[in-house]
Amino acid sequence: MNKTLKKALLTTVAGATVAVSSMTFAATEIKAAFNQSDSHPQYAALAEFGKQLEAATDGRYKINIYPNALLGDQRAALELVQAGAVQMAVVANPLIENYDNTFTAIGMPFAYTGIEHQEKVFTSGVLDELFASTKKFGFEVLTAYTAGSRNIYTKKDNVKNVADMNGRKIRVMQSNTMVEMLSCMGGTGVPMSQGEVYTAVQQGVLDGGENNEITYADMKHYEVAPYFSKTSHLMVPDLVVVSDDFMNSLSKEDQATIRKLAKDSTLDEFAKWNARIGDARALAEENGATFIDVDVKQFQDSCKPLKNKLIKSDAQKALTNAINELS
Ligand code: GCU
Repeated sequence: MNKTLKKALLTTVAGATVAVSSMTFAATEIKAAFNQSDSHPQYAALAEFGKQLEAATDGRYKINIYPNALLGDQRAALELVQAGAVQMAVVANPLIENYDNTFTAIGMPFAYTGIEHQEKVFTSGVLDELFASTKKFGFEVLTAYTAGSRNIYTKKDNVKNVADMNGRKIRVMQSNTMVEMLSCMGGTGVPMSQGEVYTAVQQGVLDGGENNEITYADMKHYEVAPYFSKTSHLMVPDLVVVSDDFMNSLSKEDQATIRKLAKDSTLDEFAKWNARIGDARALAEENGATFIDVDVKQFQDSCKPLKNKLIKSDAQKALTNAINELS
């Protein structure tokens, strides 16, 4: 619901300050679509971003976050942002990659050497140009959030080696790169939205999924797929996107405030992520999950052919080099 602001307008008449009128301003609501719960670190970072925005604009803007995919899955939410029906959303990189494959370079297996490297890349400014370039699709990428590293988890027979992936149907995010990645590991990638995974594994349509510990715990996937193999095969950025129509309706100054505060929230999100990750694993373990350490290099090596196959354009290559230079 919009917050109502009351401001007394004051004027000075012959040295005396007099309230001449009292007016009511409705804050502009920024609806933010989010597909995870309100206990997720990204929710907390977005909420903090909202608080900062309210403070910086005297309450003229309010970010209302709609968690648990209330506004639809990420693909639907992105379309609503493009249409201007929803102003903001957090969307995983593979969905944006479907519009511009330059984004493949920031969501490739092993693009980052670890979370510190990813943090450096997200806060270095090296992605600014790419992020501004999506306006032609009706949205702008404001900043990137970490989602840690992704791992394979299964219903039965834990995965210890790449050979164990053979013939397994594993849910992946909705992009070609993700499907190809699973094939490189020897399994079959089944693209679907996150909200459908639990039931699909439960019903045997899938053998498992791949995700980070926080989502695994948040979505209670441990109940249906209790074997979590620490493959760490991928670090996919989540992107905070804003409607281009909405941005164009604002003054240049307000646009700049939103861009700056969104960028600032990235460091905060990394800190919140790092603070939460251990608890998520503990929660999953308390509920019966088994975490299995695997030879990460084997999984990394299996994905190497992807690089030559998918990083082809000059823009992708330049971005890959810039990312590597920050490692
Ligand atoms: C992660 C990521 C989400 C994404 C999800 C998925 O949790 O943070 O943005 O939706 O993975 O696998 O779909």
